[in-house]
Amino acid sequence: MTFLITAGPTREAIDPVRYISNRSSGKMGYAIAEAALNAGHDVILVSGPVNLPPPRNSKFISVSTSDEMFDAVHQYANSSDICVLCAAVADYKPAQVSQVKIKKSADEFSIELVRTRDILKSLGDQPAHKFLLVGFAAETDELEANARKKLREKNCDIIVGNDARVAMESDENELLILFRDGETKRISRAPKKNLACELVKIFSNSQQKSLTKKM
Ligand code: CTP
Repeated sequence: MTFLITAGPTREAIDPVRYISNRSSGKMGYAIAEAALNAGHDVILVSGPVNLPPPRNSKFISVSTSDEMFDAVHQYANSSDICVLCAAVADYKPAQVSQVKIKKSADEFSIELVRTRDILKSLGDQPAHKFLLVGFAAETDELEANARKKLREKNCDIIVGNDARVAMESDENELLILFRDGETKRISRAPKKNLACELVKIFSNSQQKSLTKKM
């Protein structure tokens, strides 16, 4: 099967030297990419800026902004069997990007931000797509309720919920996996590499099941 995976943060430019971003390390997405490759799958990894080497044997697409990630994902989604959107995409970007470095002047300064496009939702909204769609939900509170809301609103097949305070910049994570049909699975705290192997098995079994049902 072909896995399309997004990982890491995006950077939204303010001016040529500044940007808005977040603390995502990309470790979970890269671990899923490695696990999928080790299980014999093809992997297209669309990655924001992280300090990790591209997995060997993957098709690696390096992006910076949410718009670049959106375009790369849409280029490859329909030729993939499983889309796993793990990236911490910025929800807002500056309304205008200054072409020159902004100089300090007044004591107070504010930037107008506008919403970025939701890449996961844009795939979920595609009618009759063939790929299995997996999203992540990083929360600090009300994990199950918030993750279930994202599963429904973004029209995913699976949402992998995790506590952002446990996951961010860490080598470990604990997961709550919600399926479209209401099934729930919990995986207790473990290294991201071990969790990734479990997730790849779960995703490929789910895709296999839905293909068998459609036949
Ligand atoms: N996501 C995306 N495009 C965006 C924002 C989020 O594809 N512009 C995806 C993420 O890759 C992840 C899922 O949506 O798979 C949930 O991301 P998260 O940041 O937890 O949720 P948000 O939709 O941003 O909601 P909120 O910030 O309100 O929690």
